[in-house]
Amino acid sequence: MSERTSTHGAEQEELDLTDPRLSHFEIMREGARRDGIEIVHYEPPFPVLGTKAERRLTRTVSLFFLLTGLASLAFLVIYIAWPWRYESGSGDDKLFTPLLGLTLGVALLGIGFGILAWGKKLLPKEVSIQGRHDGGSSETDRKIAGSTIVYMAEELGFKRRPLLGFAALVGLAPVGVVAAAPLVGGLIKQPHKNNQMFTTGWAPQDGKLIRLTREDGTPLRPEDISAGGQLTVFPGIEDGVSNKHADSPTLLIHLRDDDARTARTANEGAGHGDFMWGNYIAFSKICTHAGCPASLYEQQTNRLLCPCHQSQFLITNNARPVFGPASRRLPQLPIEVDADGFFVAKSDFTETVGPDFWERP
Ligand code: FES
Repeated sequence: MSERTSTHGAEQEELDLTDPRLSHFEIMREGARRDGIEIVHYEPPFPVLGTKAERRLTRTVSLFFLLTGLASLAFLVIYIAWPWRYESGSGDDKLFTPLLGLTLGVALLGIGFGILAWGKKLLPKEVSIQGRHDGGSSETDRKIAGSTIVYMAEELGFKRRPLLGFAALVGLAPVGVVAAAPLVGGLIKQPHKNNQMFTTGWAPQDGKLIRLTREDGTPLRPEDISAGGQLTVFPGIEDGVSNKHADSPTLLIHLRDDDARTARTANEGAGHGDFMWGNYIAFSKICTHAGCPASLYEQQTNRLLCPCHQSQFLITNNARPVFGPASRRLPQLPIEVDADGFFVAKSDFTETVGPDFWERP
């Protein structure tokens, strides 16, 4: 196809659209003319088809699309199969997010460069001048519009360049799957498998109750915390103080006698019985609003304050929220002292810890 010259300024003769010898381009141009559009410049990128340069460009664009497909597939494989949970001694989980970012980035760059190269180098250059008009379209106009679309599809070159069509299909289809990955990925990961979303490090292991320990792993006796004092405790298990059990940090509080009486009455009225041991009480530190550590304990008012958005929880009333955006109380850890005199958790938390997402009917 050679460069088509401008007809600007000249009155074109009306074409008979029923003539079967008319090409799609001629019908399209006639339609454009009837629509008041004048094609003043039309230049195909390769007047002679099948040249080395055209094939090279086709291969380049195809390569970009195939690269997109490969990167998208790699994204999906990593999303599904890469170990993403923290494992002690293994650094693989640290690579999970960077690898997703890398593969998605390569996929999007592949699409971008592919479309840019295709549009700039393989599509015809056309300049048209169009007048504006109102009203609906006649049967003829609709036929013209149909031919125009077919013509444009032909100009994209899929028919003449099957490799490009194949590469676009193989390369771009996985990108659509990648877009859907976050929606279906959760189902593939099975978040409910092994109850991992509903247990913490406090769940008894092999029937053995878990000790409350300091950050350095040493267990705690009641006399280690004076009245009015509090301490952040962790499950006394392997990796108890780690990201693996990031949902387990708990605040152990030694209440004064009066406060302990008030707390016990509220505790017993909560429907789960007494989770306290003596004057000691323990609540999850994970704020039920957005998951920050609620750790500012004001012993005069018995309020636990979350520094992120200033939610306050009243410890002597089952840690109910009394101020701020949190709307669910902090889960309470049932505690007792074992035969050796150390604090243990009688069971895991009886409610899910963390943000209000869990407060469902
Ligand atoms: S995270 Fe605690 S108040 Fe928002």
